[in-house]
Amino acid sequence: MNTDLTTLPYFKSDAFIDGDWAEGQGGKRFPVTNPATGEVITEVADCGEEATRAAIAAAHAAFPGWARQTADQRSAILRRWYELMVENAEGLARLLTAEMGKPLKEAEGEIRYGAGYLEWFAEEAKRAYGDVIPSNSPDSRILVMKQPVGVCAAITPWNFPNAMLMRKAAAALAAGCTMVCKPAGETPLSALAAAALAKEAGVPDGVLNVIATSSSSKMGKILTTDERVRKISFTGSTEVGRILIGQSAETIKKVSMELGGNAPFIVFDDADLDAAIEGAMASKYRNAGQTCVCTNRFLVQRGVRDAFVEKLAARVKSLKVGPGDEEGVDIGPLINEDAVEKVDSLVAGAAEAGAEIVLQGGRRGDGLYYDPTVLSGVTPDMDIFRTEIFGPVSSVSVFDDEEEAVATANDTIFGLASYFYTRDLGRAFRVAEALEYGMVGVNQGIVSNVAAPFGGIKQSGMGREGSHYGLDDYLEIKYIALGGLGA
Ligand code: SIN
Repeated sequence: MNTDLTTLPYFKSDAFIDGDWAEGQGGKRFPVTNPATGEVITEVADCGEEATRAAIAAAHAAFPGWARQTADQRSAILRRWYELMVENAEGLARLLTAEMGKPLKEAEGEIRYGAGYLEWFAEEAKRAYGDVIPSNSPDSRILVMKQPVGVCAAITPWNFPNAMLMRKAAAALAAGCTMVCKPAGETPLSALAAAALAKEAGVPDGVLNVIATSSSSKMGKILTTDERVRKISFTGSTEVGRILIGQSAETIKKVSMELGGNAPFIVFDDADLDAAIEGAMASKYRNAGQTCVCTNRFLVQRGVRDAFVEKLAARVKSLKVGPGDEEGVDIGPLINEDAVEKVDSLVAGAAEAGAEIVLQGGRRGDGLYYDPTVLSGVTPDMDIFRTEIFGPVSSVSVFDDEEEAVATANDTIFGLASYFYTRDLGRAFRVAEALEYGMVGVNQGIVSNVAAPFGGIKQSGMGREGSHYGLDDYLEIKYIALGGLGA
């Protein structure tokens, strides 16, 4: 047990239901381990069916009162929650690094990024505008108003234990919805800490509930089939998203899905190569390559391929790998043994199929560290080209012209994030329009921004988070036919 972290006032290991801290099913608990050391940080309440139904009931009971509050009242509470998250950013970041492994500087960046959604939606809460539409009959009017969807369930991933909850909860609560959140079993402590600060900020009992479990699929089944839950918002793999969508069909829930990606990063021969390298490092190595928007495939035009690979390998070589709380570390451990094995087997498979290992990384000892690796000569028939790597491995392929680059980039079931570098304005528009992706970074390696709509197309999901579009995902449109007004 890390005694230092446990002294944080928002260090919580019970379930947060109806404004209270509760035991899981029959006092059962499960361990949360630090991926850098393998040590158990604490044991968390393991919620089963009873606790899940209790959390749904609490959110259901709290909904009418929360929906009735004025937007100004909800906004003030979200704003206070934002302030508390920022005031406690340093401690929250240490907790996040302990359970997830990312370097402290990135963890603190995530806390501020997540808090940014609270600030953003505190403002957007006031802008759930409706419409008055001219009617085709003189004595009537068509009114359109937006109303909260109801109880929402959020299922959040381990790679952004704070920001993904904030992105969902901030929009839901701003719209007047209530929420039951199931954080990833690997990383429940950041979500429970956020709930503690929500309570302190004045979020009423039952409006936000956080329940952790060691049986994700069982809890997912309850959340997706209980009639009182009107919406599911999930961030995670396409495989799990597909199951959740299927289960939600029974009670016709709204669904928002932020699923897997296979992001291309195209470098044209007219690009500013140094800028492309900066973007490549930011896009590929953020969170040790464990984000849905991380570059998965570098597609580089033949004329600049060698120079790009050389510069990239030199930069990657300088990355420091180690525990996230050690000074100067850029790459922390991967989340678990399965993740390390997956990355390792993708690299081995590519090498066996003929890819060139430009920078030999690979697993380090028995721990969860994976030294950054650069591969060149990767071709579309290799698994590494089609599979989300989710690790610190750069995979470089070559192309000859714009048409080939776009066709190769689009030849995937995924459509989340994409990136390209060019100095040609015409090409910038042509390629941005042709890429079948929800997000396109042009001369930018980072697309995440609270003010922008985050989300994908094709099998990368549906719905948008953040920005003013993000509020709509938690609102229903109601049409009122107003008659008898006199001609
Ligand atoms: C994700 O990887 O799912 C989210 C990344 C982000 O918000 O930037």
